[in-house]
Amino acid sequence: MDKEWIMNEIEQLSRFSETSRGVTRLAFSPEDYAAREYVTKLMLENGLTVRTDQAGNIIGRLEGSDHQAAVVATGSHLDTVPEGGKYDGVVGVIGGIAALKILQERGPLTHPLELIVFAGEESSRFGLATIGSRIMVGSIQAKALKKLKDQNGIGFSELLNQQGTDIEELAQAVRRADEFKAFVELHIEQGSSLEKNNKTIGIVEEIAAPARCKIVVEGVAAHTGNTPMAERHDALVSAAMIIIAINEIAQAQSARGIVGTVGALKVYPGVINVVPGLVEMMVDIRGTNHQSIIECIQEIKDAVSEIAERQNTGVAIEVLSSEHPVKLDKELINLFTGVCQQQGIRYQQMNSGAGHDSMNMAKITRAGLIAIPCRAGLSHNPNEYASSEDIQAGVTVLAEALYQLAK
Ligand code: GLV
Ligand code: MN
Ligand code: MN
Repeated sequence: MDKEWIMNEIEQLSRFSETSRGVTRLAFSPEDYAAREYVTKLMLENGLTVRTDQAGNIIGRLEGSDHQAAVVATGSHLDTVPEGGKYDGVVGVIGGIAALKILQERGPLTHPLELIVFAGEESSRFGLATIGSRIMVGSIQAKALKKLKDQNGIGFSELLNQQGTDIEELAQAVRRADEFKAFVELHIEQGSSLEKNNKTIGIVEEIAAPARCKIVVEGVAAHTGNTPMAERHDALVSAAMIIIAINEIAQAQSARGIVGTVGALKVYPGVINVVPGLVEMMVDIRGTNHQSIIECIQEIKDAVSEIAERQNTGVAIEVLSSEHPVKLDKELINLFTGVCQQQGIRYQQMNSGAGHDSMNMAKITRAGLIAIPCRAGLSHNPNEYASSEDIQAGVTVLAEALYQLAK
């Protein structure tokens, strides 16, 4: 399968978007379903048998000579952030089809191969990432899934009902550890280290874990014309101080690999002539050292209390989730390293700040992650770009690794 085919299919998929600026294909949206239908057809056209599980994960399969042998799997996702890029997730899906096609042509393998298109990888819609792979590995319970709602109040369960499934049936989507031999994901780096170091392949050793907090600042809504500056309890002013404090705390901890972001803010009532009475903000802290994430959250809590007291505004901070960084499989790291050396491809070992479905697959099988460069490190951005040469190199390494695992 040539570069042109891959780039053309990536281009085709970018058309399933709610916006013309970048790609907006939120999890379980009509655009997401349309893209999934398109990819299902593409998998069928390329010789895979395809089924969709109760969670909406699409599973394409190529039988090996031993039907009982454990599955060697690859995959990624099709959903995007609002106004995201064409390559995040899609490279692992289209590149996965291309890799399986290469292996189909290469001759019979012992192990079956699967290409898994995970549902709901991005946290943008429900505040929870990698929903499909969490369900597949059985690490999330129905009770937690029932609570998920998007910004418009639409529940995850309602969306599942629309696709003909009930949350209670999701147990049927859980796969056993012994079904798999390995899982390998191909993904754009979403950062700039490969480009800076002039490397084509990143072999990921560890994936950073996110901790997420919601901070609610309560001031007093008041008339903007009649409330003297000295008498205000402006929730947005306190929130602005909190944002700067979080940025400073993360900057100070950055040598330990910490990054911290306030990415979402809701201001109430949010009109020009009312002093803001309430602000809700969402905080994302990540790193590969769990202890430093915990210390960071404690520092944020202290700073938030101090600002709230000084500004005389109420504040509540809720830790929504705090996950552990995931170490990827050493043998797979060695395998990818050997493939790059053998093929003369420039590579480096690295960590991933971005989360991936491979983090969950690592709970039930040996998991690996192969990264390729993206221009200027831009991702979750309409200008996200990966070159056809780099994508093809990623597919070559993926196909060879899958071959070695499945032969
Ligand atoms: C996935 O893109 C993430 O938010 O890490
Ligand atoms: Mn993403
Ligand atoms: Mn992704």
